[in-house]
Amino acid sequence: MVRHLITSALPYANGPIHFGHVAGAYLPADIYARYLRMCGEEVLYLCGTDEHGVAITLRAEQEGMDFRSYVDRWHGEIKELFDRFGISFDIWSGTARCPHHAKASRRFFRVLLERGFVFDRTDDQWYSESLARFLPDRYLQGTCHECGFEQARGDECPRCGTWIDSIRLGDPICTIDGSHPVLKQTKHWFIDLPRLQQEGLQKWYQGDDADHPHGPWKPNVDGHVKAMLRDLQPRPITRDLPWGVPVPEELDGAEGKVLYVWFDAPIGYLSATMEWAEQQGDAEAWRTWWQSDDTRMVHFIGKDNIAFHVVVFPSMLLGQGDAWDGAPFLLPWNVPANEFYNLQGRKFNTSSGWYLDNDSFFSQYSADAARFYLVTTLPETADSEFTWEGFQNANNALLADKFGNFASRVLKFADKRFSNRVPAAVGCFDHDPDLAAADTALGEVGPHIRAFSFRAAARSLMLACDRLNQFFDGKAPWKLVRSEDPQKLQACADVIERCIAYLELLSRRFAPLCPGAAAQLRQMLGEAANEADASCWGDEGQGNAPARIKQNSLLGAAELLFPKIEDRAVAAEIARLEASD
Ligand code: MF3
Ligand code: ZN
Repeated sequence: MVRHLITSALPYANGPIHFGHVAGAYLPADIYARYLRMCGEEVLYLCGTDEHGVAITLRAEQEGMDFRSYVDRWHGEIKELFDRFGISFDIWSGTARCPHHAKASRRFFRVLLERGFVFDRTDDQWYSESLARFLPDRYLQGTCHECGFEQARGDECPRCGTWIDSIRLGDPICTIDGSHPVLKQTKHWFIDLPRLQQEGLQKWYQGDDADHPHGPWKPNVDGHVKAMLRDLQPRPITRDLPWGVPVPEELDGAEGKVLYVWFDAPIGYLSATMEWAEQQGDAEAWRTWWQSDDTRMVHFIGKDNIAFHVVVFPSMLLGQGDAWDGAPFLLPWNVPANEFYNLQGRKFNTSSGWYLDNDSFFSQYSADAARFYLVTTLPETADSEFTWEGFQNANNALLADKFGNFASRVLKFADKRFSNRVPAAVGCFDHDPDLAAADTALGEVGPHIRAFSFRAAARSLMLACDRLNQFFDGKAPWKLVRSEDPQKLQACADVIERCIAYLELLSRRFAPLCPGAAAQLRQMLGEAANEADASCWGDEGQGNAPARIKQNSLLGAAELLFPKIEDRAVAAEIARLEASD
């Protein structure tokens, strides 16, 4: 059976993350991980903070904090939002705190150098005379060489997304003191991406490398990468900075230089695996996850990270050859990148107030409702957005009216008419069109998740709830139960038993998306849930009807699964957002 190494982009330890990040790279990964775990497959789900780079040194300096205290603070705060969303990482590490990270990163670098995939070159870099230092990346602002945008950063253009070579920035100024930098010679190391492309990257990407198979690329990923592969250039992977993984000190000119953050960050996935393995008491266990053919590595990321995960990191892995104790590294199985997620028509922006306050949100609304709504609006193929009206609708009209309502009408009926026990059933509903449709829909949920079609999984769940409610309405057990006819009384028992069996199945099918509500429903099902293994997914894709529930099983207490969100709460939320304008 394949093993799944699942990663979510390591967020910069450089400020709060928001719902847009969660929708892009964390919630889908969590659903995927929870689902595969329930299927009994081996899963390792990794994440941690990305703690180096100029974005961080710049902000820490502005706030007058030392780098380590600064990243420590965000490392903890960022995790709080993930906890509130119930994101189930197996390890939460960080590139400046993981004990294996610097060593592994330097080893990657040395191997690439020895194999000729990294070379050094001395050329001009922007230098500030007033600060007496080089100005890498975001220490510079200037005109984009691709689109002419005047506020492009030294590493990337926020308008056209170009990966900027800072030496080609027009009219650069220093972002610390606004001064005009001068050019000064310095030595840097470059990764030879064109050579790595020739020596395997291109072949792998096209799907022609039998040793490193991969799944089908999403169209948004494929478009981006194909364009990039047409014109790959060597890229500098070292910087003049006081914070980061030092360039191996034996190299001439290494002093004062660190590895570029985008070189060390993805190695964070590997070093976090080493840390996890050590915590498990088997320090060598990381090898099974990184060097064995039957592991599938899946990187969940936002679209701005595609180049690094589909071109740069696989090149770095390929370039290691068999230098790590004779075994090559595996390459990603897939990179299901998402587009961007906005808030009511605009980008999330914490500093301007255009965001959702986490404390206030989670004191009023449930993580399950938030998760479900985000799933129904995930930016899988195009940018999408959170709207308060949409959130209210997902909670009230979908979760509460379809799923919650089915649970409460069935369990209340069983309580009132069958003393809160599962009635003895004899009839079967093999040809019932509603149940057949529900079976089909429920059978599709798992395959959709496996194919990274999370929105479709949510739609299938809702479709199943619709048909189950129709089944209940069509059979009208509240009429049957008042009949004098024993056959009709039996039919009533048969209907209720089926509904309870489907509730039990729903509690498992909903679990990856809404783990809290799913667990609560299992409580409500009492002994009816005990019979089947909660963690079991089972008969995947089969669309089979659920097995008969043991007669007389005692049910638990019915509760409200999804409290409704009032119109005035939504109006107040929107007013608060608009007041921040
Ligand atoms: N910190 C980067 C971002 O937030 C993502 C890094 S992903 C990693 O855009 F693989 F490099 F770690
Ligand atoms: Zn641009």
